[in-house]
Amino acid sequence: MTSDEVIKKQKQYLLPSVGTYYERPLVLASGEGRYLYDLDGNRYLDFFVGILTVGVGHCHPKVTAAVQQQQATLVHTSTLYATERQVELAERLANLAPGDVSKSFFSNSGTEANETAIMLAQAATGLDEVVALRYGYSGRSQLALSLTGNGAYRRGLGGAGLGGVHHAPAPYCYRCPFHLTYPSCDLACARDVEELIQTTTGGRVAAFIAEPIMGVGGFITPPKEYFQVVVDIVRKYGGVYIADEVQTAWGRTGGRWWGVQQYGVQPDIMTSAKSLGNGQPIGWTAATPKVADAFTGPQIATFGGNPVSCAAALATLQVIEDEGLLENAALVGAHLRAGLEDLQRRFPEMGDVRGMGLMQAVELVRDPRSKEPAPELAAAVLEASRREGLLIGKGGLHGHVLRIAPALNIGRGDVDDALRMMGRALAAATGRS
Ligand SMILES: Cc1ncc(COP(=O)(O)O)c(C=O)c1O
Repeated sequence: MTSDEVIKKQKQYLLPSVGTYYERPLVLASGEGRYLYDLDGNRYLDFFVGILTVGVGHCHPKVTAAVQQQQATLVHTSTLYATERQVELAERLANLAPGDVSKSFFSNSGTEANETAIMLAQAATGLDEVVALRYGYSGRSQLALSLTGNGAYRRGLGGAGLGGVHHAPAPYCYRCPFHLTYPSCDLACARDVEELIQTTTGGRVAAFIAEPIMGVGGFITPPKEYFQVVVDIVRKYGGVYIADEVQTAWGRTGGRWWGVQQYGVQPDIMTSAKSLGNGQPIGWTAATPKVADAFTGPQIATFGGNPVSCAAALATLQVIEDEGLLENAALVGAHLRAGLEDLQRRFPEMGDVRGMGLMQAVELVRDPRSKEPAPELAAAVLEASRREGLLIGKGGLHGHVLRIAPALNIGRGDVDDALRMMGRALAAATGRS
């Protein structure tokens, strides 16, 4: 097929929500390491890796070999049976997860992982209500969208969403909901959770769910004490802490396996998906034994714990360890951050540069004083980056935040290439030199 034919068939046979990036959809044909190739033979340096999912690069030979071997041995069992791969992965994750988080349930996506987390929290506490964050994203089921604090995605709900979810102000320092400045704000956003619980709930809550860095929200990076303050409040009112590490896990934030480790807090429940299988579908929910053991009764995830996905995950974790990718993400991430800050001096439209490790964002504004979001500029930078041969992502409430998140095994030279392309794309989009 030609790319024109694919685009035509996509419009005819797929829902309009598919393939929405770029004026002319990008038709991808293959990937290798840090590069993607389209059907017309063009090469792209991939700095978004399928929404932070191909963490060790496209078609990593060790992950591919593990998948091929498992595919030829045992493909599917369902959660009715045990398999070696599933328990190996659960054991590995119990050893990697912080604190006492040690009992896993596997599903197929981040959405399912979060659904499972809320069920676990409700079973363990006997309570219903949940505190989530404005600007957060939890997935695309009815419950996950009800937890989501982003109107663009909530429109898919077709209504108010499920009851019992209360959205706290986001720890969004660039646009502080209290118009204060860190650290003199004394973490007003975190402390507000107590009043939220006292005024909008029955007085006790099952859980607080939050991403360590708010991915879809535009890599909103909370101040370092934020989670300690909120988690204390939530526990005081009966709730458990669910860390949604769908984007932040597996070394993404640099130097550590988990986003929560950057904040010195201990979750009761963790969820992840995306990069765990390096592209092979897998969702993961894990909890402390105290929480997990409250969850009795049958639960089926037909494809959960699929041996092929588990084999991919085991190989991915091994690659992260063998290639020293936690350290690489910290080092190369610092280089990327410094380069973005250099660009910020040239382009005042880059209102805020934020993130950790290889999870860096640029919030684009029309004017740095008014901070008016600039979604049209973000779209233009994305298009111009594509023409340069660089793929980056978008996010933020208005689609005005550039999200930059390459595979963890890139080098400084790749970052330099990407920064040069971004510089030219920003120049083309802003008309500045
Ligand atoms: C933080 C977070 N949680 C949950 C999800 C949902 O994951 P999935 O798309 O695999 O269902 C996403 C997806 O982007 C996410 O970023």
